[in-house]
Order: sequence, then structure tokens, then C-alpha cells
Amino acid sequence: MGDITVDTVDDPIIEEEDDVIVGITSTAICGSDLHIYDGFIPQLRDMVLGHEFMGVVEDVGRGVTRLRKGDRVVVPFTIACGHCFYCSQGFHANCAHSNPKNYGPRGNLLDNKGGGLFGYTDLYGGYNGGQAQYVRVPKANVGPKIIPAGLSDDQVLFLTDIFPTGWSAVKWGKVKPGDSVVIFGSGPVGLMAQKAAWLHGAERVIAIDPLEYRLEKARTVNKVDTINAEDDDLMDKIYEMTNGRGADVAIDAVGMEANRSLLEKARAVLNAEKGTAKVLDLCTEAVRRSGTVAVVGVYGSPYDNFPIHRIFDKGLIMQFGQAQAHLYIDQCFEMVRNGKVTLDDIITHRLPLSRASEAYDMFKNKKDDCVKVVLKPGLD
Ligand SMILES: NC(=O)c1ccc[n+]([C@@H]2O[C@H](COP(=O)([O-])OP(=O)(O)OC[C@H]3O[C@@H](n4cnc5c(N)ncnc54)[C@H](O)[C@@H]3O)[C@@H](O)[C@H]2O)c1
Ligand SMILES: [Zn+2]
Ligand SMILES: [Zn+2]
Repeated sequence: MGDITVDTVDDPIIEEEDDVIVGITSTAICGSDLHIYDGFIPQLRDMVLGHEFMGVVEDVGRGVTRLRKGDRVVVPFTIACGHCFYCSQGFHANCAHSNPKNYGPRGNLLDNKGGGLFGYTDLYGGYNGGQAQYVRVPKANVGPKIIPAGLSDDQVLFLTDIFPTGWSAVKWGKVKPGDSVVIFGSGPVGLMAQKAAWLHGAERVIAIDPLEYRLEKARTVNKVDTINAEDDDLMDKIYEMTNGRGADVAIDAVGMEANRSLLEKARAVLNAEKGTAKVLDLCTEAVRRSGTVAVVGVYGSPYDNFPIHRIFDKGLIMQFGQAQAHLYIDQCFEMVRNGKVTLDDIITHRLPLSRASEAYDMFKNKKDDCVKVVLKPGLD
């Protein structure tokens, strides 16, 4: 926890017939990596982090039919078999075959988790991630998507996670033409949700964040309305912008590490909660009656005082979870290929992989107006 170093480790090798080894050309740091960095999601042994990566196939297992050495691929962050009960319905993040040690139906704190994720602790399969020069990609007949030469790494890298995540939030929110959408969090995921909301015909998109520079980014790249999260009249302003009713759809793109006062921190310690569910609470207040709340921000513990009364009174619909990256990657790719969306306008820093430790510090502590860092082994 709190200690990211750049070390030399053994190169990955083919372990299963359907593995490939990818030589990384670009990889990004995600807000989800910060939950491990900050100790909100536990990991005792050292491992290679990183679940947003792309590169070139360097080695192929005997059972791989879809890929060849030399193919350039982006790889969704969830690892999935493609044919189990869940995968066959498009719920690849719940794949029954990619997290053999810690998978289960209960969804407990420290066991019975969902499917495997790259570089995301032993709870999610213990797979090494792609913030490295090489990564082993299991179940390679299912996840990786081949990218044509005409598109740059920066244009397509976010198909691995954050664009399909923003897209999932908008799908789960059932955003339709004419809707108003309020999005809490204007970090990389919030910015992608803003883009996805416009692409689904939203009439008004409102971004909320305590950091002015991130709201500025939202206004510049996505032309959305913004309100500072610390504005005393936050809710009144949201209602004013949405006919007094609240937004048709509210999206939580913050999760448990929302900003907190000292009092809120003390309360969390007393209640044995990890972080806070305050943004979830705000979403239920900001959405209109019979509206939908979509939650892609990560939560890792139970919370006292969860506003179940409001959810009942307002008749809300809610959907949470890991994004459906496999399900939506093709749709998202088409948006990029057709020029309907630009994803790389959120990148603020491109650094060599060897500067990963500094990059984590900058992204976590919001230094140098950092929004999204891309690490490139090739720059070393
Ligand atoms: N569900 C998924 O599949 C999935 C995929 C990727 C990321 N995530 C999660 O999405 C969340 C956001 O990721 P990110 O990469 O954008 O991280 P980030 O940490 O850069 O962004 C979070 C943003 O929330 C803002 N914020 C803090 N408190 C707030 C408040 N009270 N109201 C409004 N905004 C507030 C922060 O200032 C920051 O800009 C994280 O929890 C991450 O783990 C989930
Ligand atoms: Zn992520
Ligand atoms: Zn499966």
C-alpha cells in the first residue's frame, strides 16, 4: 500500500494454451488503481498493477485462434471465458471461470468475489497487470481487440476500461434523447461518461467535482455545464437546471474515495466503513423521482445510514458494478473509428514507464493539474 516501485521481474510466459504475451506500447493509471495504492482494496504480496493497456502480440499459445504474433491489440480489463452462464449473457465481469480461488456467489468483503481482473489483487484472480513491458493475457480468444494501423495508441487506449465504463454507466442509466444527466466526478471516468451521455442524445449534461481544474477540463473537452461539489447550493442548482425535478439520470463516477471532512473520516472509522458512500447519497438526491442512478464508482464495504428511505420514497432504479467492457468494446470502437468521439483529449501527462512511481503520486494527489497519465515503455 502506498508504495509503487519500478522493478525488474521475470518476463511472463505462456501458461495456458489460450494465453498470449503482449509487449506493452501504452498503459494508463486508473482511479481504481488508487484504491489499491491507498489500501482500500487489500493486497499483501507484491504484484504488477495495471488494467488499462495495449500493445503488440509477441507470443501465442497453441490454442489461440483469433490472434497472431504481430497483431496490435487493446485488452479489456475484465478477464472472461466467453461461454459461462454470465459471459453468455454479456455479464463478463462476473465470469465464473477467470477467478478460480476467490470467485463465489456471495460477494463478501474478502472472498466470493466476481471474475478476474488484470493487475487487481489476489481477490480478483492475482493476475499480473500491464504497467510493465510485457503482460500475460489469459483467455485470449475472448478479450483482446485487434486495432488497425491508422489509429494511434492514444486514440484507442481507453477502450480497455474507462470509455466502456462511462458507456456502461450511460446504458445502465437508460439515457435517451432529451434526458438530463448529472455526473458526479469529473475524473477520467466522469469525463468518459459525459462523452457517452452526449452520444446517447442527452439534452443537458451537468458535471460535479470539487476540483476546479477538472471542471474546466469538462467544459473545454465536453462542453458540459459544471457545478463545484463544494458549492453550498449544489442541490438547488441541480434542481434549477432540471425543471425543479432533478436529473433524469444520475451517475456516480467517484466511488468510496470521495473528498471528506475530518468528522466524516472519524464517523467512517467508528462504523468500520471504507471511505464514504456520500456521492451515492448525493446521486439519490439529485435524480428525479422514478429516475435511474448508475454507479460505476467503486465501493468496497457496507455503509451505515445508506439512504434507503429516499430510494424507496422516490421509486428509484439503480445499477452498480464493474463495467461491461467486453459487451461494449465494439460499439465504443466504432464511435472512435467514425470520428464520433475523441478520447485522448483527457490525457494530461505522457511519461516513460520508469517514472510510474512519480506518476502515481501526481495522479493521486492531483498535482500539476493531472487528469490522466499514460505510461509508455517506449519512452524509456
Ligand atoms: N465500475 C468500473 O468498472 C470502473 C472502471 C474504472 C474506474 N472505476 C471507478 O470510477 C471511479 C473514478 O475513477 P477515475 O479514474 O475517474 O478516478 P479519479 O480519482 O481521478 O476521479 C474521481 C473524481 O471524483 C472527484 N470527487 C471527489 N469527491 C467528490 C464529490 N463529493 N462530488 C463529486 N466529485 C467528487 C475527484 O475530485 C476526482 O476528480 C473510481 O472509484 C474508480 O475505481 C470503476
Ligand atoms: Zn480502471
Ligand atoms: Zn465466463
